[in-house]
Amino acid sequence: MPDTGIIQRLIEEEEIATIVNRLGEQITAHYRANEGELVVIGLLRGSFVFMADLVRKINYPLVVDFMAVSSYGDGTISTGDVKIAMDLDESVEGKHVLLVEDIVDTGTTFAKVIRMLGNRNPASLKVCSFLNKPSRRRYDVQIDFCGKDIPDEFVCGYGLDYAQKYRNLPYVGILGK
Ligand code: IMP
Ligand code: MG
Repeated sequence: MPDTGIIQRLIEEEEIATIVNRLGEQITAHYRANEGELVVIGLLRGSFVFMADLVRKINYPLVVDFMAVSSYGDGTISTGDVKIAMDLDESVEGKHVLLVEDIVDTGTTFAKVIRMLGNRNPASLKVCSFLNKPSRRRYDVQIDFCGKDIPDEFVCGYGLDYAQKYRNLPYVGILGK
């Protein structure tokens, strides 16, 4: 895809704030009923902006940890190959885990990371994604807390990149063709 730098706005800052508030309320309500330590795990790099906003809307004691996985290289086509570039700092055994992702596309990344974390014996494992492209799903993953379904377009901004660019846009846009 040629990098024209043209972005068609898809989700404005105000809508992002509404989505994040709603997710924070849902997550807070869920963990209120639970007891025990909550670890919110962000998948780097895409989730870092969303994660920063989200944790401030969760009214429950928590710690954060990060994991870096990659499946895309610098393009827009998934290779289906997920590699751990950086693992968690701390064990999740016996803890409530909330996995946070920027976008679920084919589901490859989430499916593999969910299986991997599940093997580490957390007390519970829930997943939250800011965006979801259901039309491209190859792996059946249940998103417990989902921000917004979007059509099959390549989007950037609010942490999401194209070849590492555009992560700093405060809105989500569609890359120009
Ligand atoms: P999946 O493994 O196919 O579900 O892809 C998930 C990962 O691909 C996400 O964590 C993103 O990093 C990346 N990705 C998928 N769709 C997009 C997009 O539209 N814009 C930017 N990154 C995307
Ligand atoms: Mg990503």
